[in-house]
Amino acid sequence: MALPISVTSSETKDLLRMERVGAHSHIRGLGLDDALDPRETSQGMVGQLKARRAAGVILRMIEAGKIAGRAILIAGPPSTGKTAIAMGMAQGLGSDVPFTMLAASEIFSLEMSKTEALTQAFRRSIGVRIKEESEVIEGEVVEIQIDRTLTGGSKAGKLTLKTTDMETIYDLGNKMIDALNKEKVMAGDVIHIDKASGRITKVGRSFARARDYDAMAADTKFVQCPEGELQKRKEVVHTVSLHEIDVINSRTQGFLALFSGDTGEIKSEVRDQINAKVAEWREEGKAEIVPGVLFIDEVHMLDIECFSFLNRALEDEMAPVVIMASNRGVTKIRGTKYKSPHGIPVDLLDRMLIISTSAYDEKEIKHILTIRCQEEDVEMTEDAKDVLTKIGGETSLRYAIHLITAASLVARKRKATAVDIQDIKRVYSLFLDEKRSVQYLKDYEDQYMFNETSNKMDEDTAMEM
Ligand SMILES: Nc1ncnc2c1ncn2[C@@H]1O[C@H](COP(=O)(O)OP(=O)(O)O)[C@@H](O)[C@H]1O
Ligand SMILES: [Mg+2]
Repeated sequence: MALPISVTSSETKDLLRMERVGAHSHIRGLGLDDALDPRETSQGMVGQLKARRAAGVILRMIEAGKIAGRAILIAGPPSTGKTAIAMGMAQGLGSDVPFTMLAASEIFSLEMSKTEALTQAFRRSIGVRIKEESEVIEGEVVEIQIDRTLTGGSKAGKLTLKTTDMETIYDLGNKMIDALNKEKVMAGDVIHIDKASGRITKVGRSFARARDYDAMAADTKFVQCPEGELQKRKEVVHTVSLHEIDVINSRTQGFLALFSGDTGEIKSEVRDQINAKVAEWREEGKAEIVPGVLFIDEVHMLDIECFSFLNRALEDEMAPVVIMASNRGVTKIRGTKYKSPHGIPVDLLDRMLIISTSAYDEKEIKHILTIRCQEEDVEMTEDAKDVLTKIGGETSLRYAIHLITAASLVARKRKATAVDIQDIKRVYSLFLDEKRSVQYLKDYEDQYMFNETSNKMDEDTAMEM
């Protein structure tokens, strides 16, 4: 079958990007200056300077578009910011460079073979930048007005856009409102709406509004308010991933599968045809390949078959940069009885650049906790922060972070405006950290089901860790 290969899918990538906003939502980048020197604290990132600088170098290489098929491993103890650094890198990538995040264990839970799941993840991480002429609306936002129903369910609203010559009010439906929210569009932004897909892109802030805010991200781009008609034909460049093209063109699935996530296995003939087509577009200058980033978290959960697939897939001409993270030391490679550093076979390790992270000191912990308090909108007294910092140092940063919201709930119950030491104490006694939980299990082991002798448990955990 000759495929009329279609690429009209645009907004789908965002669905795949949403994972885990919570834990790392304070991270807005790697916090590096132009010379790639890490600032002590910037863009939500604190400390971990060496790892951040290394990540910055990798990012530069990706930006230059020169490298593909490289593998990077971020290795370090739990809660030392491995995932945070990867998220920081994701933010630093250009907006059309695909970033896919995957927890290694997801591979085993999908209704498809492991290699198919990995292939899909790889193809999600390769962008195809396509030039097309299309109908667009471009203008400066004068006003966004959104009415919510009481239930918060359906929404409606109006969007006023202007150019230097005209002004028009558009009605907004649910989908557009979500898109506007997601792009954080405000009055004064110059936006670009693709009529066919409804995709909204922020072009920049209007010069006329440059003085409205004194705090603005360093990368805010200022542009002129557009001239002429609001609606025009324009050559637009948009980037879709190879995976999106695959799904849209698999006969059995269709593009709706992109929304449900239920893509199933994709036939290799479809992929071959698409690869051929993309190669043709590249030759004609209609498209270029944008190698993106695939981030595989907790990579020690992959098994030997997956690792061998990775070895091979990294050699492909259209491979993304693969960043992996692991908190394991020397441990068994899943699916074998052999041990290897980080649970990764040495032949794969040999291909990797390794970035290591190390534990934070008290000052850094306190700083991260302060940032998290702001992020979670929690007022906390200095004393309480000090106590929480102590806890973070003795248990783990992540545990301390988790106590913030819990403590604020306790504080609210006693009608206090700020979290104080007593609230921290209270939640510390309510919720066990890992060490105390293990101790508790040891103390009360005979009351639990399926309990094995403590010796045996030590052995097991030692192996797992
Ligand atoms: N250097 C850092 N700056 C700011 N926040 C951090 C930093 N390191 C870790 N965090 C935050 O601490 C928590 C645990 O870090 P995480 O990256 O999940 O650890 P890991 O993946 O190494 O186990 C997360 O909420 C993360 O955003
Ligand atoms: Mg992690």
